[in-house]
Amino acid sequence: MRDLVADVTLEPKNLMLPIFVKEGLEAPRSIEGMADVLQHTEQSFLDVLDDAIGAGIKSVMFFAVPKIRDAKGSQATAENGILSRVIRSARAHVGNDLVLVADLCLDEFTDHGHCGVLDNQGLIDNDSTLIRYADMGLVLAAAGADLLGTSGMMDGQVASIRKALDLRGFENTGILAYSAKYASGFYGPFRNAVESALDGDRKTYQQDYRRTREGLAEVELDLAEGADLIMVKPALVYLDVIAKAAAVSNRPVAAYLVSGEYAMVEASAKAGVIDRELAIFEILYSIRRAGAQIICTYWALEFAKKLKEQR
Ligand code: PBG
Repeated sequence: MRDLVADVTLEPKNLMLPIFVKEGLEAPRSIEGMADVLQHTEQSFLDVLDDAIGAGIKSVMFFAVPKIRDAKGSQATAENGILSRVIRSARAHVGNDLVLVADLCLDEFTDHGHCGVLDNQGLIDNDSTLIRYADMGLVLAAAGADLLGTSGMMDGQVASIRKALDLRGFENTGILAYSAKYASGFYGPFRNAVESALDGDRKTYQQDYRRTREGLAEVELDLAEGADLIMVKPALVYLDVIAKAAAVSNRPVAAYLVSGEYAMVEASAKAGVIDRELAIFEILYSIRRAGAQIICTYWALEFAKKLKEQR
């Protein structure tokens, strides 16, 4: 009876798996604060792709950790840079069995750790960053990415990347726009995962969680600029934003269940104060209930497997 009347569903295809690959790494290694998440080598992540396909997952999102960082994030636009290499070998390995999403942001590639380039006062230079993003988009599209995950929160980023893609014949490369992304205290473990060089915060470009209207304005702007999917991030403490975004969006809505949200649950499960599996299912369903069709989560593989077994 409970199954009959339940109206929220969760399937493996709703789960998007983030994958970290580090340049020059010789063996996979675990990430501080994210016990079961690994930094992969350029070889080892390919097995994860096979696993993901086997579990019914439809999409993966790549983050790369380069060896060399500089002020403008040169490696982000290097034709044979680590992220492009990863996309290329993923494509060769899986064909069209997975949607390949490439993170499009400079933070992993800059020596100051910010998502964009800085002006001579050390402030984010929004419009110079747009030029870097457009170049990065072209490089990642040429490498074979299906979707570009624009996570940098610069104003006008979707329009600038879309225009560059269309001019250069990449009409079929889509944009997964991180539209409502908040300056959050829940990104800590991720910054270990990508060995972020950031000292300070991103409050001048990510959103203030004390504001309700701005998130929706950003969603509407990104849709108007040509976003193919929109995303809300983090997910758990922003279920209201997901619900509002889903109500106005005529495109699919995604939510990113971020590293700190993941770590919080893992820590309390380890402490024996919650039932891990029960809690995680409840969280995943809550995000679906709020209205997100896609949940980007470090639990994607494990829970896709569980969902498959349940059938
Ligand atoms: C920045 C970026 C962040 C995450 C993904 N890309 C956040 C940040 O450092 O501001 C966080 C993801 C997570 O915490 O799981 N491009």
